[in-house]
Amino acid sequence: MDSLKTSAAHYNDTVVRQFSIMAVVWGVVGMLVGVFIAAQLAWPELNFGISWLSFGRLRPLHTNAVIFAFGGCALFATSYYVVQRTCQTTLFLPKLAAFTFWGWQLVIVAAAVSLPLGFTSGKEYAELEWPIDILITLVWVSYAIVFFGTIGTRKVKHIYVANWFFGAFIIAVALLHLVNSAAVPAGLMKSYSAYAGVQDAMIQWWYGHNAVGFFLTAGFLGMMYYFIPKQAGRPVYSYRLSIVHFWALIFTYMWAGPHHLHFTALPNWTQSVGMVFSLILLAPSWGGMINGIMTLSGAWHKLRDDPVLRFLIVSLSFYGMSTFEGPMMSIKTVNALSHYTDWTVGHVHSGALGWVGLITMGSLYYLIPRLFGKKEMHSKSAIELHFWMATIGIVLYIAAMWIAGVMQGLMWRAVNPDGTLTYTFVESVKATYPFYVIRTIGGLLYLVGMLIMAWNVLKTAASGRAVKVAVPAVHPAHA
Ligand code: HEM
Ligand code: HEM
Repeated sequence: MDSLKTSAAHYNDTVVRQFSIMAVVWGVVGMLVGVFIAAQLAWPELNFGISWLSFGRLRPLHTNAVIFAFGGCALFATSYYVVQRTCQTTLFLPKLAAFTFWGWQLVIVAAAVSLPLGFTSGKEYAELEWPIDILITLVWVSYAIVFFGTIGTRKVKHIYVANWFFGAFIIAVALLHLVNSAAVPAGLMKSYSAYAGVQDAMIQWWYGHNAVGFFLTAGFLGMMYYFIPKQAGRPVYSYRLSIVHFWALIFTYMWAGPHHLHFTALPNWTQSVGMVFSLILLAPSWGGMINGIMTLSGAWHKLRDDPVLRFLIVSLSFYGMSTFEGPMMSIKTVNALSHYTDWTVGHVHSGALGWVGLITMGSLYYLIPRLFGKKEMHSKSAIELHFWMATIGIVLYIAAMWIAGVMQGLMWRAVNPDGTLTYTFVESVKATYPFYVIRTIGGLLYLVGMLIMAWNVLKTAASGRAVKVAVPAVHPAHA
């Protein structure tokens, strides 16, 4: 023991606790809005004639709340937890870390107020107006300083692969946000994009697709590489594969954006480049999924009675599913059918509910008891119940959207022998109605699962206390 360096420092878990709790809170809020807009599509009277309750305003509120508030808080929490544990040091500049928490909550509140009021830049997933964009930039730069500063002051030589994914996510999101949000202000809450025409569209979907690749994927892969081995009690299946996975994924994602603009004014060759890179993307995506799932080699039996591990592993099967479906949808002939239909919405939610949602919930179920000095969550059967409600909810949601999407695509292209359209648009809307009802029921199940989680988290936190964990001594071999 005397050959070990000792340390009196403690991990900074205050900010991890704050972000974890808020991830659950914003998850409930974002999904509630999701269920509400799903119901509006089935029963449009639910707009109540009130402008700020209209679908057009609440839809961006939903996407911003689930991606940036729920997903964002979970990413901050897990990256701050993981980087400290794997670098065996405390967070760099704790006051700046605290600023990232309060600053990010302010961004979320500003979004929750400004979007229903109708302030929007009109760019999907980047709707917030320029003053909020500036605040996002400040928070994000601070996040980068805290994260990379912690890596820079690490006590172990090696940088664990989860940190590579978190790091790439932080850098890429900074780049995407700065380039895509460049705008000329025309008032306090009004601006015009710095780009015009087809360049604007290309920049927007370079941003949009990489928001999927880096915000909704790379950061969550960071979670996968830490929490699956931890929960399974096994090392990562192949560390070498994880490095190949990392470089292949971040290189390929950047070029796939044009698949969102098939058959538009974008040059045809650009569309083809987007399609080819999307097809290539299948390989690193599945490499990562296999690496995660195979980490369970020799421990498959744990899936039977560990619902937390089940959340983590089932999330990977949805990841595999959506990253198979995505490349298929990027093929121009397939996209000619799927684009503008609910098939896209089904694809989005198999990734969002199945991959992003489940891996987050699994990681939070691992974290929360440890953050509050407990061995496990207050109720294991509540986790079981949550798992089944979420899984059944996802299946109802995505199956309904797939059927609706293919049906819409086929109805819109059907022509009579004399060349006239077989169906009017409104007939396709009527035919979609039952699927919108099923989707609402699926979403409701998912939301109730999330409420059960919120109750379980509250009980766990209330019966525990905010513990201080000492940074362990580092063995000289690793220093
Ligand atoms: C209770 C769960 C949820 C329900 C009921 C729900 C419902 C909806 C609805 C009705 C739409 C609008 C679809 C349309 O315009 O036709 C939508 C869009 C969207 N949702 Fe959700 N959602 C849920 C959870 C989530 C989560 C957890 C995420 C992300 C982590 C997410 C991400 C998105 C995205 C990215 C879109 C835009 C899709 C597109 O433009 O194609 N949703 N959601
Ligand atoms: C190999 C990976 C993937 C590829 C190649 C891919 C490809 C595609 C394609 C072709 C579309 C339809 C574009 C259109 O017709 O407008 C799409 C839409 C979308 N995908 Fe994926 N996808 C992948 C993985 C994922 C994952 C894992 C998620 C979520 C976590 C996701 C989220 C989305 C979203 C949010 C949209 C809708 C964007 C919008 O129109 O608003 N994708 N994707």
